[in-house]
Amino acid sequence: MIRAYRESDLDAVAAIHSISFPRQLRSRDWIAASFGAYPKTRMYVAESDARVIGFAMWTEKSGFRAQAVLELEQIAVTPEHRRRGIAEALIRRSLSEVEKHLETLKAVVVTTRADNAAQALYRKTLGAEVEATIASLYSGDEVLMVARLR
Ligand SMILES: CC(C)(COP(=O)(O)OP(=O)(O)OC[C@H]1O[C@@H](n2cnc3c(N)ncnc32)[C@H](O)[C@@H]1OP(=O)(O)O)[C@@H](O)C(=O)NCCC(=O)NCCS
Repeated sequence: MIRAYRESDLDAVAAIHSISFPRQLRSRDWIAASFGAYPKTRMYVAESDARVIGFAMWTEKSGFRAQAVLELEQIAVTPEHRRRGIAEALIRRSLSEVEKHLETLKAVVVTTRADNAAQALYRKTLGAEVEATIASLYSGDEVLMVARLR
């Protein structure tokens, strides 16, 4: 099941964040601050047997616009639940929830390390393509992918 994030999800989501992004610090603070940025940022979780097993974080870019540009800022699934279509369901269902709050969705942007297999996920679920590679940004070369929807 995919549903909107609630404050009571903080520990579970921070744990998934921490294990999925080992170079990123203070996961609890990051997730709490991101939720605090609602509705600029909206978060969703995947739940199975009453357990949170993944999350997705969407952020509206460059102000609230009639022709909105969204960033899929982060997505992660617990290691033991990967390669079962959870991220794909999270992206598709949470994006359609976010879209209900937008006039028009013009584009989705997402960045990831150039060597991250998530590129295939973004191509498959969003139709995103690599538009630029930025050398040595966070922990290595980062690709900027864009899905142009309108
Ligand atoms: C990236 C991540 C979210 C994918 O989650 P997932 O639930 O395993 O993904 P899905 O099972 O929904 O995969 C959907 C599609 O994405 C692609 N994909 C996902 N993981 C992949 C991998 N490790 N290698 C190659 N392709 C992959 C495939 O095309 C896959 O479709 P398929 O299984 O029919 O081939 C997960 O591996 C993760 O949490 N990684 C750590 C955090 C991270 O790097 N997040 C992305 C950067 S923000």
